[in-house]
Amino acid sequence: MPSDWAVELHGVTRRYGRGGSAVHALRGIDLTLPPGTFTAVMGPSGSGKSTFLQCAAGLDRPTAGRIVLGGTDITGLSENKLTALRRTRLGFVFQAFNLLPSLTVEQNVVLPMRLAGHRPDRRRAAEVLGQVGLADKGRRRPGQLSGGQQQRVAIARALVTHPDVVFADEPTGALDTTTAAEILALLRGAVDTQHATVVMVTHDPSAAAWADRVLFLADGTIIDHLDRAPADRIAARMRDLTARPTYTQTAA
Ligand SMILES: Nc1ncnc2c1ncn2[C@@H]1O[C@H](COP(=O)(O)OP(=O)(O)O)[C@@H](O)[C@H]1O
Ligand SMILES: [Mg+2]
Repeated sequence: MPSDWAVELHGVTRRYGRGGSAVHALRGIDLTLPPGTFTAVMGPSGSGKSTFLQCAAGLDRPTAGRIVLGGTDITGLSENKLTALRRTRLGFVFQAFNLLPSLTVEQNVVLPMRLAGHRPDRRRAAEVLGQVGLADKGRRRPGQLSGGQQQRVAIARALVTHPDVVFADEPTGALDTTTAAEILALLRGAVDTQHATVVMVTHDPSAAAWADRVLFLADGTIIDHLDRAPADRIAARMRDLTARPTYTQTAA
């Protein structure tokens, strides 16, 4: 039976190291995200945001627990199967854009198809480039574009395969406020009009305010969430979290 969820985490734990010096980066995360939703993940530095994203996106393996993406349990997949799944069924947007400078914009956009061994679909590339407002930039190189335009290319590349989930790690971290809002509006639009599913890590409350739901991580646990919250409420919740005393790990 196909799953109703785009993302499922069941008891996901990630521990670095062993014994008394072990770091419990994720302490049993249970989470289900419906398709066509935009989720932001926030939390103080060291709360487990990066580990969460890496595990949820199949870039890192949990110590325990299960992860299901678009109905596929990725927990026991071989490295090759996992790579193939990432290329065909997941999209990624990073803070640093991560475009290949020697390829044209269009070649960057169809790269996930080529890496997956499929014929690059140029019509689909034109479609997603149009969607991000770069219909006329396909033959440029990334170096000829502004930061905001480069991130638009990265979003087009992330959407080109109609992925089950788009994972975004601080996608507006390198952009000014106005350009950041344009990028967030694009992600929001992909969710609202293409039924994309977006999971975004951010430290910026005004970025998180574009999401349907904000999850708050602290000490490797989801301790709270806010739905359709404005930036000031998200910022206030973050201030509470940062002020909250954290548990220090006792040495064995
Ligand atoms: N490769 C690693 N080896 C050991 N500890 C790590 C590693 N990566 C992260 N950690 C630790 O795991 C915890 C969570 O880290 P991280 O997921 O990067 O948090 P965040 O992204 O919220 O800052 C932190 O205590 C961090 O020091
Ligand atoms: Mg991090």
